[in-house]
Amino acid sequence: MRTETPPLIHLAEYRPSDFLIDRVDLDVRLHPSRTRVTAMLALRPNPAGDPTAPLRLDGDELALVALALDGQPLPEDAYAVSPSGLVLSAPPRRPFTLAIVTELDPGANTKLMGLYRSGAVYCTQCEADGFRRITYFLDRPDVLSVYTTRIEADRDEAPVLLGNGNPVEAGALDGNRHYAVWHDPHPKPAYLFALVGGRLGHVATRFTTMEGRDVAVAVHVEPGKEARAAYALDAVVRSMRWDEEAFGRPYDLDVFNVVAVSDFNMGAMENKGLNIFNDKYVLASPETATDADYAAIEAIIAHEYFHNWSGNRVTCRDWFQLCLKEGLTVFRDQEFSSDMRSRAVHRIAEVRQLRARQFPEDAGPLRHPVRPTAYAEINNFYTATVYEKGAEIVRMLKTLLGPDAFRAGMDRYFAENDGRAATVEDFLDAFASVSGRDLAAFAQWYARPGTPRLAFRTAYDPAARTCDLTLSQSLDGGPPLVMPVALGLVGPGGALDADCPDLADGVYVLTDREATLRFRGVTERPVPSLLRGFSAPVRLDGALTEADHLVLLARDTDPFNRWQAGQSLALRLIRAGGPAEAFAEALGLLLDAEAPRDPAFAALMLSLPGEGEVANEIEAEVDPDAIHGARKALRAALGRALRDRLEDIEARLAEPVGTPYSPDAAAAGRRALRNAALDLLAAGDPQAGAARAAARLEAATNMTDRLAALGTLALIPGDAREAALAAFGARYADEPLVLDKWFALQATIPEPGTPERIEGLKRHPAYALTNPNRVRALVGSFAFGNPTQFTREDGTGFALVADTVAALDGANPQAAARLLTAFGSWRKLKKSRAVKAEEMLNRIKAIPGLSRDVADIVTRTLA
Ligand code: ARG
Ligand code: ZN
Repeated sequence: MRTETPPLIHLAEYRPSDFLIDRVDLDVRLHPSRTRVTAMLALRPNPAGDPTAPLRLDGDELALVALALDGQPLPEDAYAVSPSGLVLSAPPRRPFTLAIVTELDPGANTKLMGLYRSGAVYCTQCEADGFRRITYFLDRPDVLSVYTTRIEADRDEAPVLLGNGNPVEAGALDGNRHYAVWHDPHPKPAYLFALVGGRLGHVATRFTTMEGRDVAVAVHVEPGKEARAAYALDAVVRSMRWDEEAFGRPYDLDVFNVVAVSDFNMGAMENKGLNIFNDKYVLASPETATDADYAAIEAIIAHEYFHNWSGNRVTCRDWFQLCLKEGLTVFRDQEFSSDMRSRAVHRIAEVRQLRARQFPEDAGPLRHPVRPTAYAEINNFYTATVYEKGAEIVRMLKTLLGPDAFRAGMDRYFAENDGRAATVEDFLDAFASVSGRDLAAFAQWYARPGTPRLAFRTAYDPAARTCDLTLSQSLDGGPPLVMPVALGLVGPGGALDADCPDLADGVYVLTDREATLRFRGVTERPVPSLLRGFSAPVRLDGALTEADHLVLLARDTDPFNRWQAGQSLALRLIRAGGPAEAFAEALGLLLDAEAPRDPAFAALMLSLPGEGEVANEIEAEVDPDAIHGARKALRAALGRALRDRLEDIEARLAEPVGTPYSPDAAAAGRRALRNAALDLLAAGDPQAGAARAAARLEAATNMTDRLAALGTLALIPGDAREAALAAFGARYADEPLVLDKWFALQATIPEPGTPERIEGLKRHPAYALTNPNRVRALVGSFAFGNPTQFTREDGTGFALVADTVAALDGANPQAAARLLTAFGSWRKLKKSRAVKAEEMLNRIKAIPGLSRDVADIVTRTLA
């Protein structure tokens, strides 16, 4: 059997459902291998549908036990059933009920879609199309129903029973069983359905909404880990308050539950009133979580909570509109984190992530528009493009309209689409109608894949004191986009106070292919500072000299562009070599000023563009070894040149013994700077660095510092490294989430011995192919974070990842497909490496019985 390209579903072929389901009454009797689900569906023909159509319910690996229409068993010739569907050829043309009984085996559900067991906990994941693994249903986001769920279970096995909405009833049953009934008054699509049953501890609090609703908020975790849920609980409350203040959005149920489970394909899920999380994004203690973990927990808790409005109250008409909820909700969680932390520092982190994940996707074979027009497997479209570039589009909209019109547009969008399944057009219409602006051209951002280029040139006339700035854009030779470019002029003395009538609040909206802006009153030769705050997700083609970048680094008023100037200088040195003195000197002066004032910003200034970002800049024949070598050499040069200052930072930022750990941004910033200093010092002098890192490891009192020191040490081969790795592994043998960090760190060592090390770690008792976090930590970190070894010329790196994809596909196609996307940039590699990647992709493609998920990725990657 040869892998065929899986069939495509097209946006243009959208049709409303022929039937609607107004109410769903579920009765779920939990059992490890024989869970019984009775679904009572109240159906009716959709006035907008085809009045002669059959009723086709979706299913996926389902076993039908019984079926009745309006209480009467259906004769066998009235329906056709298979594991993947239930069809009634002549359904009633009036409202009717269907009672469907299915039997599930949650313990055998390794796909982690539908109802499954994570350890001993029963849980569900229904987005995008997992509900059809629970019962036969119209499993599409434009069918909205009111759900009542009765859950029954053994009292010892599952003392806690949670569902969507509000709890209405609970009680004891014979035979040590018990039940709980949950009712969700808000109509929702099936992908937002959830239930949980298990032995869980929790932490709880109450929150009173702006409307006066008293909400019981709880975070449920593995018993014994309650203390590690405190930060997540606090993040929920801060999210609830922020969404009221920033967007006027109150919570709308009496309870809000978050549950952490250890086996989960993605980060988390926004099920109505019952968010289910990968435990990695809930559990935190100073001993087990880093500052970055705390920040991620805060962001993802907020993200899922914010979906209650952007996703749940207003949902998506079809899966092509995924960015409508995801891009918007990422934008909202980014704004939340910016308000909780430092806006400038957070913006830099967002852009780094965009460049590391989305830019390569947009430049490779898996590129797609933010709103795709066709898909074979929707679960493969939960991408950086839909999420992160989707968020950038919303950010541009806010820049174009200004904060007040943006907020008015959001209010309009929520008001007009509440309880509806909306489209990107509905979203843009809301902003167009409040602002009177025509957003038709702007809408192209949703339709055009690829990263646009922005180029510029300046002409300065000292006599006339004018400067003409010409901007030009291009994307695949197509028509121009609407591009907000925040900009200003900077001179050696700082920002230039020049006059330009084309700017509004420092922003020029580029709508033509090319435009020239005239600045007047320019008293010295200016350097343009373009794309301040990264005002559009584009590549800026550099026409600045080293001296210009140094001016921006030292004098720009926009912190993002000061950071960007440092990145540009570093990129130039990594790509073309040359003396690093001027850059080092500028960084030194910046450190003197910024280290005491904003340590987090100073730390970012010290971190060079990653190897992947350097590769992004190169069109073809990418040689990861050369990039690695050049970057390493620059780090070493900076470490040596800045030694005194870095040592000073290290000493000055040492926390007094006994200082309690706090995850707040200020304390995290100081740790980040001190650890960045350690890392650069070690790059400059590995011998001394190893000793210094070992001492820091010894003295560390929290996971942030411990892992940073271990990470520095891990780059310096030798006995000290091996001893430290072994000690860390032993110390955290019973902490899977900490071992994940340890797996990841070893998997990213850029040395030829790493594939063998990974093979050894696969035999570690804590490693399991069935747990997505473990696989991501060990094999995912290698594939996405170790370019020199993953792309090795001997092919062992590609083989390691391909073997894992193949081993995983049968059990968990979603996880396998995601891992396979690591091959996305293979065509750009040096020939000797690209041929090995292609060979491996073809080998995967030839595997009989590939999942649709993997078949889709492999065929698109090879196309
Ligand atoms: N909606 C979830 C989020 O907050 C993502 C769930 C995706 N899951 C999946 N199996 N495709 O981003
Ligand atoms: Zn989301």
